[in-house]
Amino acid sequence: MNIVKQSPSVLVFDSGIGGLSVYNEIYNKIPNAHYIYVFDNEMFPYGDKSSNFLINRVNSIIEAVTKFYPIDLAVIACNTASTICLPNLRSKFSFPIIGVVPAIKPASLLTKNKCIGLLATKATVERTYITDLIHQFAAHCTVKLLGLSELALIAENKLQGVTVDMKQLKELMQPWLRLRTIPDTIVLGCTHYPFIKTELQMIFPQSNLIDSGHAIAIRVCNLLNDKYKLDRIIPSTSKNIVLSTVYTQSVEKLIKKLSDYNLHKYHTIDISLA
Ligand code: DGL
Repeated sequence: MNIVKQSPSVLVFDSGIGGLSVYNEIYNKIPNAHYIYVFDNEMFPYGDKSSNFLINRVNSIIEAVTKFYPIDLAVIACNTASTICLPNLRSKFSFPIIGVVPAIKPASLLTKNKCIGLLATKATVERTYITDLIHQFAAHCTVKLLGLSELALIAENKLQGVTVDMKQLKELMQPWLRLRTIPDTIVLGCTHYPFIKTELQMIFPQSNLIDSGHAIAIRVCNLLNDKYKLDRIIPSTSKNIVLSTVYTQSVEKLIKKLSDYNLHKYHTIDISLA
């Protein structure tokens, strides 16, 4: 029997545009779902915020969104938030919540010189979650951590049309360029970084740069397929939505760009309603 259901509503969340790299992978796999992309530009960047602040903030935002939109699944498309907020979110909301985890495990299988680099925000590289992940999957490798606050902003600016300053980027990568053994596998442990992958690849031409976007999309697809049988759903006719926590000039510029991502309707979300 052909049971046809409405397409599920998928919330994708990040501090900024980084989550679009994950959203894009999910959208390409499941174009029929309805998407709500939410970004907390008021508090960007998350990489320099405390754990407690992020737990409360992300909780309030997701709660505010659920006041207006029914959500079937949420993706925390931000490594900085995922490495700290998931247990709390999962205890509060009944829909499945998927987080992004830096691709340490795949990197440990790919590396030939047994030297892996993890490029992420300052907050992410300091988390015990990361230490545990390395212990669990890459104990046989040397893992070099580089926590930077500037890279996410460089990626934000690039999406708004600003050319990446290669001299500045190379300067930021100096700690690794000075190493005797350069990581042959570099994990992009922040969802913003796939947007500057080309530039990073120019600096590390011999290294393999990997991220978790595709793996997350597969996970979302499997989870939704179990419940909705994705080949039988009624495709969403509602416009995909973008929500941000504050309206600024950059948002105004960004909105035009977002139609390239099939995100067509913008609102500001008032998190005091959470
Ligand atoms: N996109 C984010 C991440 O994956 C956060 C960047 C930031 O806000 O500092 O970690």
